[in-house]
Amino acid sequence: MSTFNVELKKVVDDSYDIEIGFSLEEKLILDLKAGLVGNIKKYVVVTDSVVKDLYGEKIHKLIETAGFKTDLIVFEAGEKSKTRETKEYVEDTMLSKGYRRDCCIIAVGGGVVTDLAGFVAGTYGRGVPFINYATTLLASADASVGGKTAVDTPLATNLIGMFNQPQKVYIDIAAWKTLPKRQLSSGLAETIKHACLASSDFFEYLEKNIDKIMAVDKDVCEKVAEENCRIKYHVVMKDERESGLREVLNLGHTVGRAIETVSDYRLLHGEALAIGM
Ligand code: GLY
Repeated sequence: MSTFNVELKKVVDDSYDIEIGFSLEEKLILDLKAGLVGNIKKYVVVTDSVVKDLYGEKIHKLIETAGFKTDLIVFEAGEKSKTRETKEYVEDTMLSKGYRRDCCIIAVGGGVVTDLAGFVAGTYGRGVPFINYATTLLASADASVGGKTAVDTPLATNLIGMFNQPQKVYIDIAAWKTLPKRQLSSGLAETIKHACLASSDFFEYLEKNIDKIMAVDKDVCEKVAEENCRIKYHVVMKDERESGLREVLNLGHTVGRAIETVSDYRLLHGEALAIGM
């Protein structure tokens, strides 16, 4: 009998930028041309049936015009699509279109899209890079940042997934203008959660500026997105893999996720989270 020791010590640098701004589609293209993901020239845009018409097709066309190989993969909008079956659909479509390991996935949409596409990226060809282009307040505060990716199962949400950090996150505040008010409120719940966890000043700021947030005032919403990132990353940079501290970010989530599931997703994530809190 013998033992062979496999020495595989690793130094990992998963640092990345989160760019917060208004209408960042052209900036994304400039970054791709400038080598954001190295020499990669193949981009799969993953989006849902609602975001497709608003931003997905536009981004796909811009990437095509820039001379890259690209395809747009669309699945039905809504939490009910965040499943292993949808993951399989995205993977099989990518395979049938000839994508191998030399591609990058660009998730364009809210949390369902970024969670699912980030998970596909983590396992496709044993891992390809991905970029999040977040179009909702909720995704800017939660799913698109922090590196948690997952799909739901019939038993509960987010049970199958992985920690996988994107190459970059774009938070497009202009996209919040096309959100139904109910979706904006849902995103606000996650924002209020961050304020409750970390900053009474931010809580007061939200109280004072609630009308401006709902009207998607550029400066106020940029400040909201920045504060959400600052509070969340203060935790994530210390405990990326939730071995302790990061559990504070689950305030309202654990109960909220259960409520969301038993409501059969009639409640939006933020609404369930608010009840959970
Ligand atoms: N949504 C909680 C977290 O990102 O850890």
